[in-house]
Amino acid sequence: MVDKYAVIGNPIVHSKSPLIHAAFAQQTGQAMSYEAILSPLDGFEAAVEALMASGYKGLNVTVPFKFEALKFASTRGKVNSCAERAGASNTLIFDANIGVIADNTDGVGLVNDITHNIKFEIRHKRVLVLGGGGAAFGILQPLVEAAPGSIVIANRTFAKADEAANRLAEIVKASNSRVSGLPKRFEELDGLQFDLIINSTSAGLTDSTLPISDSIFAEGCLAYDMMYGRETPFMAQARRNGAQVADGLGMLVEQAAEAFYLWRGVRPDTKPVMDKIRALAI
Ligand code: ATR
Repeated sequence: MVDKYAVIGNPIVHSKSPLIHAAFAQQTGQAMSYEAILSPLDGFEAAVEALMASGYKGLNVTVPFKFEALKFASTRGKVNSCAERAGASNTLIFDANIGVIADNTDGVGLVNDITHNIKFEIRHKRVLVLGGGGAAFGILQPLVEAAPGSIVIANRTFAKADEAANRLAEIVKASNSRVSGLPKRFEELDGLQFDLIINSTSAGLTDSTLPISDSIFAEGCLAYDMMYGRETPFMAQARRNGAQVADGLGMLVEQAAEAFYLWRGVRPDTKPVMDKIRALAI
């Protein structure tokens, strides 16, 4: 009997997770299956309960259920600190003793991609996070753990940047870190420069340009867009201004590797899988 896993979301048809996990399982010789499951928008809990009842060992959770997944685990098991800090869960583990464990591997995936694959050192650097939605919240704790010098969070709606900066301050305090954090409006970035700029907004989905100045890309800047599969206006602007540019495909594969490790206790080699997914995406 193989152990069963899946990614659950709505929509789900374009998910690359089944391909990625199949490649990990083959590479590491793990006897497991992994499929994509569409949940009705108003039926997430019932769908997860049915999967648990039929013996699934864990799930990846994607849009729009990451918040519900956290809530689900909080009443049926436990929530690990990464998920707690992110306010969302992308990985559920079904444990015979503890019940449902919620984790979040998105932020670790991002930081692992930046430090191990791109080999960009985050320590002491000036970091700018663009966006104040769930994607931004999810990366704050692992970013703080990477010990940058400062983190500025800029968002179109200032209240959300402010909320994210408050969350950041709690993380900094809890981890005894000395990272400074500030919320900003986009127009307040003029005159500042950053070494690492992470775009967590969904502006690229609609090909929208962000109102950021060309001068914010410092010498040697890494501009990282959490989206993948297309060149966003942010990536194009960064390229024009001499920055090194990365899309979110590495993060996608790294967050999957971290989930795979949580479930199976084995770390896959992400490089060949990343190459395979990138070749398919072109
Ligand atoms: P996610 O969970 O992916 O972060 P979200 O919570 O809907 O999704 O957040 C989307 C983010 O992209 C928000 O920060 C949003 O800005 P607002 O908070 O002002 O809505 C940002 N965003 C989306 N489209 C944008 C655009 N065209 N320009 C600037 N920011 C944009």
